[in-house]
Order: sequence, then C-alpha cells, then structure tokens
Amino acid sequence: MTKNIAISLFFTLATVVLLGYIWFGQTTDRLAATNLRETALELEFGQRNYEQYCASCHGLSGEGAGPVNAGAPALSVLQDTKGPGTEAFTTTNGIQKKYGSLGNYVEAIIANGIRGTAMPAWEQQGMRPDQIKAIAAYVMAMQGGAVSPVAQETAKEWKATEVAKLPPAPTPNEPPLDDPVADAGRTQFRRVCSSCHYATDQPLIGPGMAGLFGPEGTKSYGTILPNGKEVNDANVLEWIKVGGGGPGVHPPAADAPVGQAEYGPMPGQAGLYTDEEITQIIAYLKTLER
Ligand code: HEC
Ligand code: HEC
Repeated sequence: MTKNIAISLFFTLATVVLLGYIWFGQTTDRLAATNLRETALELEFGQRNYEQYCASCHGLSGEGAGPVNAGAPALSVLQDTKGPGTEAFTTTNGIQKKYGSLGNYVEAIIANGIRGTAMPAWEQQGMRPDQIKAIAAYVMAMQGGAVSPVAQETAKEWKATEVAKLPPAPTPNEPPLDDPVADAGRTQFRRVCSSCHYATDQPLIGPGMAGLFGPEGTKSYGTILPNGKEVNDANVLEWIKVGGGGPGVHPPAADAPVGQAEYGPMPGQAGLYTDEEITQIIAYLKTLER
C-alpha cells in the first residue's frame, strides 16, 4: 500500500518535472526566437536606411568607396581601428571615456555629423532616433569586412533589399497619367524620392520638384542643378544616380528646407533604382508644372 502511494507519487512528481521542463524550454525558445526576430527586424530596418542615406558615400557594405565618396572612410573596419583595445578607443579619440562603447560613438556621429567635413548631421536633417539607432546597429553588424553573417542572414531572411525595392501599391481611385511611362514614374517617385521631395514647389528635405524641366526651373535652384550643371535628361539622370550637393557646394537655394537654413547633400539613388526606373521618373518630373 505505502509502496503503491510512493510509486504513484513518484510518477506524479516526474510528470510535473517533465512538463515544467518542456514548458520552460519552449518559453526560452520562444523568447530567443522573439529576440532574434526583433534583432533581425532592427537590422533590416537599419540596412534599408543605411542603403538610402549612407551607402552613397560609405559604400554598400561600408567599404568606403561609394559613388559620392567625398572622402568618406570605410565603416566595416571600425572595430579594428577604433574598437576596444585600440589606441583610438582608450586614448587618442577617448571613445571609451566619451561614449562608453563603439556603438554609442557611431550613433553620436550619425546624429551630430563631423563639423567641417562632408559627414552630415542626420538629426538636423530630420532623421528619427529609431532610424539612427537601427543604422548604428547595422554598422556594428558589418564589422569585419563584408557584411557580417548576422546581417547577411537578416538580409536573406527578411529580404531587406527586396522590401525596399518593392513598389507601393497603386493609389486607388487616382486616374492614371496619360503617358504610361510617366505614370510608372509617378509610382517609382513615391517609393523613395517622395520621402524627401514634394511634387509641388514646397521644400521638404530636398527642393520641391515642380517646374524642374519648365522654363524657370525649380523654385530652389532654377534651371541649374545643385551640382552646377544645367537641367537636361542626361544631367538629371546622373544627378539622381550619384546625388551630391550640400552646403558650400553651390550658392544657397532660393528657399530653405523644412526647419533649416540650407539643403544637405542628396544621397545617390543608384542602389535603389535602375536606369530604366529613373528614366520613368524623369518622364514624370516633366509633367510637374510650377
Ligand atoms: C555626403 C557623404 C556622406 C554621407 C551621405 C555619410 N557620410 Fe559618414 N562620413 C563622411 C565623411 C567625409 C566622413 C569623414 C569625416 C572626417 O574627415 O573625419 C564620415 C565619417 C563617418 C563616421 C566616422 C568614422 C570614423 O572613422 O570615425 C561614421 C561612423 C559615419 N561617417 C557614419 C555614417 C552613416 C551611418 C551615414 C548614414 C546615416 C553616413 N555616415 C553618411 C561622409 C558621409
Ligand atoms: C534622403 C533625401 C533624398 C532622397 C531620397 C532623394 N533626394 Fe533628391 N535631393 C535631396 C536634397 C537634400 C537635394 C538638394 C541638394 C543640394 O541642395 O545640394 C536634392 C536635390 C534634387 C534635385 C535637384 C533639384 C533642383 O532644384 O535642381 C533633383 C532633380 C532631385 N533631388 C531628384 C530626386 C529624385 C528623382 C529622387 C528619387 C529617385 C530623389 N531626388 C531622392 C534629397 C533627397
């Protein structure tokens, strides 16, 4: 009798322990998966932002040879040149003392820029704290040369670049433009350009696009692009691919961007648009009268 009680008690206990073990294991698995998913999402978001705002100067994988370049250093080697254990970290730049970690340093540089150089102060350009944080995380993930395995996994799994390249769904109830090429250009314009440009003559982060190909040009720069070249198909195509400009590169614009005295540089869009898509955008820009 006592023996039977002891046996059933043993099995009951064993079941409880086993169930607890399974439950606990699943919870930690789920926690780990959630964390991984959050990290992946942040890296994906960081990658998209990096490609849009940084790659033109610092290169697509942080190798430092983007099409605009402007003397921008490689970012994929920061761990080796300025990370813990280096002179720059402990003494020369005082990164440890001033920022605590290399990641914080990167965040601070993105937010505040480097005065007197082409490195823009992105906070002033209207970049949000969550964007800055995600870009810094992505820059830290690309340490060690090529984009790190973590970031690569992320890109594969979450299709960061593909997501950024997907056109938005067409706006319902909006009549198509007469010219199908210009109509396709309008859709393309709304994918990325419209985050910095209105299709009117109002300034945003960049000049309003209205009138670009008209007799008087845009309100900001007239018939001359910010790089000093005249507005024509070939020059506008080149400008959109390479970007450039920024304070000191040209005479001040006739209007100021939202919340600022001067326009910052435009990041080249070559990584985000094909030549054909840019040609469609140009056809669309030609329909915008001032
Ligand atoms: C218009 C070109 C340009 C763009 C766009 C740009 N940078 Fe820079 N960046 C530079 C230049 C030039 C420097 C070096 C400045 C100097 O001489 O110290 C620099 C320096 C840096 C540094 C410091 C590197 C070091 O060795 O300490 C970091 C970090 C950095 N950039 C990150 C970014 C990130 C992230 C973005 C996108 C949000 C970005 N940059 C966009 C031009 C650019
Ligand atoms: C991250 C913001 C940003 C994005 C995205 C962007 N631009 Fe710009 N763009 C600018 C800024 C800033 C300037 C002004 C540069 C200057 O003044 O030096 C500019 C200037 C221009 C100009 C010259 C305007 C003039 O008055 O001469 C054209 C044209 C232009 N952008 C087209 C485009 C097109 C088309 C796209 C999308 C394929 C695009 N931009 C994407 C920020 C952006």
